[in-house]
Amino acid sequence: MLRSDFTALFGQAPEIISEAPGRVNLIGEHVDYCDGFVMPFAINDRTYAAINRRSDRKIRISSLQRPGQLFETTLDELSPDKSGDWERYILGVIWAFGDRVTTGLDILVDGRVALGAGLSSSAALECSIAISLNNLFAAELSLPALARLAQRSENEYVGMPCGIMDQSVSLMAQAGNALLLDCRDLSTEQIPFDLASSGLELLIIDTRAHHALVDGGYAERRASCESAAKKLGIKALRDCSIAQLESSRDELTELEYKRAEHVVNDIARVHKCVENLKRADFKTVGEILTQSHASLRDLFEISCPELDLAVATSLANKSLGGRMIGGGFGGSAIALFELSDIEPAKQAISKAFLEAGFTEPRFFTSLPSSGAAVISG
Ligand code: GLA
Repeated sequence: MLRSDFTALFGQAPEIISEAPGRVNLIGEHVDYCDGFVMPFAINDRTYAAINRRSDRKIRISSLQRPGQLFETTLDELSPDKSGDWERYILGVIWAFGDRVTTGLDILVDGRVALGAGLSSSAALECSIAISLNNLFAAELSLPALARLAQRSENEYVGMPCGIMDQSVSLMAQAGNALLLDCRDLSTEQIPFDLASSGLELLIIDTRAHHALVDGGYAERRASCESAAKKLGIKALRDCSIAQLESSRDELTELEYKRAEHVVNDIARVHKCVENLKRADFKTVGEILTQSHASLRDLFEISCPELDLAVATSLANKSLGGRMIGGGFGGSAIALFELSDIEPAKQAISKAFLEAGFTEPRFFTSLPSSGAAVISG
């Protein structure tokens, strides 16, 4: 499909087709930019990119999700001026490759990760392009180096101060596993995440809410964490225990203290969650997820009524635990269920949303899937 569409659009078959997944983060939220630990997994939904090198320096970009739109520029015009639309995510990656990209490009993408659902469609797009360019231009960058490159393109070209989690999991995930990632050195451990053999499933609830705070709110949280670390005289909040934080309370503003308390505790929850996953104690895993939600809601203050309702209704309908995921102020929540409890819970959540006057949520489930790959070429 993508191949024939590419050929129809650009008059030649693509040299390469690659794919990269979106993600769900199990635990460790808003801690990646504090050098913390996170444990996301890749979902089945992914973005596909078909690419050809050109003989000139022109760049042409189109998307199956926006038929009829063709964006054109040249390699020499790339500059992070932060204007433009979705194509910036692609241009930023090309820009971040710098001199390694030596020719113009024709690019067609097929983005199958739901937009605005907090499932990291942007990292999927960036990483599908990054893995192809790495291959086409024999750049030989490692997966962690590609993750840093994609993050830099989003930070500097798109202007979103994201951490390293989404790009890392999109590139380094392995099917059947959650990815325990040390966001300081990008070392990883694959943690088997097999809910099905315990009769469980993780429900992903896309609240379809998207509150206006998103952009400024994210940057503001990150800034508070960084100023807290600075006042504590440490490189990042990862270097602080809860006891140290408590004893330095007077050095921080009340707001910085709340934000830091969330970060320090959520990093500890990641380690606790790993231990409990390893011993298949899903009851405790569920409790940890719910604690994380309360912390994101009360200390980090990035939840919203739709996310709170999704989690509360899940818990009231036999969920073992759940929480909001991703940047916050909308997007998706996750909730852990015994398989037989999922359908009634979905109905209860939909009903609660309608009663509250919210848009009906969308439900997904996904097994932990594999990371980015070249699928042809
Ligand atoms: C967004 C960012 C990530 C991370 C999460 C919150 O998805 O892109 O880097 O900070 O929010 O955990």
